[in-house]
Amino acid sequence: MTQNRKRVLSGIQPSGNLTIGNYLGAIKQWAENQHRFDAYYCVVDLHAITVEHDPAQLREKTREVAAIYLACGIDPTLSTIFVQSHVKAHSELAWLLTCQTPLGWLYRMTQFKDKSAKQEAMSVSTGLLSYPVLMAADILLYQAEVVPVGDDQRQHLEFTRDLAQRMNHLYGEDTFTIPEVMIPPAGARIMGLDNPTAKMSKSEAAQLHAVYILDEPDTIRKKIMKSVTDSGKEIQFSDDPSRAGVNNLLTIYQAFTSQSAEAIEAHFSTARGYGDLKKAVAEAVIESLQPIQQRYRELTEDVRNIDDLLAQGAEKARAIANRTLAIVQERMGFLSA
Ligand code: TYM
Repeated sequence: MTQNRKRVLSGIQPSGNLTIGNYLGAIKQWAENQHRFDAYYCVVDLHAITVEHDPAQLREKTREVAAIYLACGIDPTLSTIFVQSHVKAHSELAWLLTCQTPLGWLYRMTQFKDKSAKQEAMSVSTGLLSYPVLMAADILLYQAEVVPVGDDQRQHLEFTRDLAQRMNHLYGEDTFTIPEVMIPPAGARIMGLDNPTAKMSKSEAAQLHAVYILDEPDTIRKKIMKSVTDSGKEIQFSDDPSRAGVNNLLTIYQAFTSQSAEAIEAHFSTARGYGDLKKAVAEAVIESLQPIQQRYRELTEDVRNIDDLLAQGAEKARAIANRTLAIVQERMGFLSA
């Protein structure tokens, strides 16, 4: 059965509270498409240590992210859920790939440029620079054909494809499958509520920046009601940067309600102003998150179930990952142990 389904891999860093951006850009499309894919979804804990981190928080968040995958409808009988560090092949392949990665490719990555700009140049960790190599290893180990992610990961996917092609050229065309990116039609780039020209991010500390998947209804209302808009009153989709706040609210509404842009604009044509729009967006978000939050509470009553599931997931993932790693090691000239 799995033979006819396309292999898929994706992951989220347990580096903060998951936002509705993570949900709309990634997890929602994972859940919606899981019947047609042979899917592997990992919690990418090794990626979360590329910036300063707290060990206790990393442990807690790793389990939390796995529970959120399940609560959002990722079905462990259809998809494999696991923790990246439980499958040692990720670190091992990352090293083999690192040695084939030109430094110039890494310096070009916009995520590296953005994140490193916030730190003292010489104290930026090497891990932050080589992060895309680890991400490439995650994907290539599973010979994934499709990688469902939000818009901000496009460049990392291009990098992965380039690296896979380089390896195939050096070690045989069938070494790695060249993966395709899959971006959702709505919600691929949710912007910050406090600053609609910057991407909504789980690592941004500002209180009114993001709605988290596990936020209480009142908190969601408050954040959305206080979101930054402009001084106009027209409620229409727009790519004009000065209208980015309203466009972002409409995009969130569209992604949660799955309505067409025309239907949404028609719906809001009689609204009295942005206040009405904000109220409607808040209620749509609350309503969509409510069943997820309920299921999350039930699932986390006994974390042993989650840990058991992650152990099973890792075992299944390991079998595939180790097979790919062994082929690459052999082709690169390592003696088998
Ligand atoms: P991360 O943890 O930053 O984000 C996880 C997923 O959420 C999407 N996303 C968004 N989508 C829409 N709007 C937003 N504001 C928004 N913010 C985040 C991201 O595009 C991503 O799909 N490098 C990856 C993690 C990773 C990975 C992988 C992904 C590591 N290995 C292998 C796919 C395959 C990252 O930092 O995602």
